Amino acid sequence: MNEKSILSLWEKASKKAIEDYLHFLSYPSVSSEKKHESDVKNCVDWLKNYMKTMGLKTELIETAGHPTLLASYEVDPNKPTLLLYGHYDVQPVDPIELWHSPPFSPTIIDGSVFARGAQDNKGQIFYCIQAVKYLLEEEGTLPLNIKFLIEGEEETGSLGLSKILPSIKDSIKADYVVVVDVGIPAKDEPAITLGLRGIITFDINLKGSKNDLHSGMYGGLAYNPNHALVKVLASLRDENGKIAIPNFYDEVEDLTALEREEYDLEFDEKSYLSQTGFPPTGGEEIFSPGERRATRPTLEINGINGGYSGDGFKTVIPKEAHAKISCRLVPNQDPEKIGLLVKNHIQKIVPKGIEVEVDFHEGKGMPVRLTKDSPLAKAFAESYESIFKKKCRYILEGASIPIAAELKNASGGDLLLVGLGLPEDLIHAPNENFSLDRFKKGFCIIAGALFNLASVNKQ
Ligand code: BES
Ligand code: MN
Repeated sequence: MNEKSILSLWEKASKKAIEDYLHFLSYPSVSSEKKHESDVKNCVDWLKNYMKTMGLKTELIETAGHPTLLASYEVDPNKPTLLLYGHYDVQPVDPIELWHSPPFSPTIIDGSVFARGAQDNKGQIFYCIQAVKYLLEEEGTLPLNIKFLIEGEEETGSLGLSKILPSIKDSIKADYVVVVDVGIPAKDEPAITLGLRGIITFDINLKGSKNDLHSGMYGGLAYNPNHALVKVLASLRDENGKIAIPNFYDEVEDLTALEREEYDLEFDEKSYLSQTGFPPTGGEEIFSPGERRATRPTLEINGINGGYSGDGFKTVIPKEAHAKISCRLVPNQDPEKIGLLVKNHIQKIVPKGIEVEVDFHEGKGMPVRLTKDSPLAKAFAESYESIFKKKCRYILEGASIPIAAELKNASGGDLLLVGLGLPEDLIHAPNENFSLDRFKKGFCIIAGALFNLASVNKQ
C-alpha cells in the first residue's frame, strides 16, 4: 500500500477510530492506585474484547500485578513477526484541581485530546491498533505477522511483566520489537529514538532518637537526622555537578566519534526555556546540555522529608529523616552494581549513632542503545520521512522504559523505539493532551512501516 492509499485509509477510519480512542481514555487505568484496581481491569477487558473483534487472537496474561494483554495475528509463519509494545496503564491525575477538563472525560479542544493517557501511552498504542484494524478491514490480511504486548504496569516499573517474561518467551518470539512510547523533538521534526537511560530508585531512611525531641532541651546533644540527611545528600555531587560517589563513572565511556555522528545531540535551548522557564544549569558542567540530557548518567533527589514544615515554627529535633532518589544510567552501568556503590557510600558518610537504611525499589531498568543502520530502523525512518516529508533525526532519550531491554532479550528480536510525543503533551502532569494530527500521523507511519518491514525480507 502506498502513502496515498494509507492516507485515504485514515479518511475512512478517522471518525470511528477517534470515537474508540476517546472511549479507551475514559477508563481511569491508574496502575499505582488501589482505588482504581477495578478500572484497570475493566480497561484491559474492554481492550481485549476490542482486539478480539478486530480478528486478533487475544490472551490476558496474569502477573503478580496488573495483567498484560497479548494480541496477535499470524499471516504466514514464514513471514517476519513484529511485536508492538505499549501500556494501557496511566499515571495518577493529582493535582486534580489544575485540570481544565476532567482527566477521564476526554475533551477535544483545538484539535487536541485532553485526558490522562491521551499520549502516554494509550494514544500512542491506540493509533497502532487502529492502523492494524483498518489494514485488516481493507485488505483482509497484513503484510507480516503482528503481536501486540500491552501491559498494565509500565508506570510503576513493569514489575509483574518483568517477572513472567522468561515464561512467555515462546509466545512473544519476534523478529522485530518496536516500543511505541517515545517522542520527537518538535512537531515538524520526525525522529527515531536510538537510546534510553536505565534507572534505579531508592529511599534513604535515617533514624536518631526514639522520639521527637525538644530542640532546646536536646539541641547540641542529640544528632539531628535532618542534619545527617543534609550531609549525606550533599556528598552525592561535587560543586561541578559531577556525581561524587566513588567508582560511579567507572563503566561510563566517552562517546566515540562514530556515536557523535550517529546521534543527533542538538539541544534547542529556546524550546527548553519555554518548557521550563529556567536555564539548563544542572548536571555536569563540562558537558553540553545535549550530552547531559541523554548520554550522561544523573542522580536526582526526588523528595525530602523530615521534621516540621507546617505554618510558623516548631522547635523540634525529629526522630527520623527521609529522601527519595533516582539515578538514570547509561550503557555499561549495571543497575545492581551502581546500587551497591551508592549504598556503600551512604553507609560510610552517615554520622555515628544515626541508623541508616538504603531501600531499593524493585523494577530497575537497563539502559538501551541502538543503531540506525538496521533494517528495522530503516523501515520506520522511511515511513516517518514519507509522512513528514522531511529527513528523520536520530535522537537519544533521557527517560527510561524499564522493560525495553528485557523485551529485546526475551523476544529475540531487533529493538526500536518510536513515537510521536512532544514535551508540550504534558505527560504525567495536569492537562495531558495529544493532537489528533499526530494521532493521524502515527496511524499512517505505523501502516507504512509494516509494508516497508515486510519488503525488507523479500530482498
Ligand atoms: N513514555 C515514558 C518515557 C518517555 C518519556 C519517553 C518522555 C520519551 C519521552 C514512560 O511511560 C515513563 O514515564 N517512564 C518512566 C519510568 C519509571 C516510572 C520507572 C520514567 O522514565 O520516569
Ligand atoms: Mn509514563
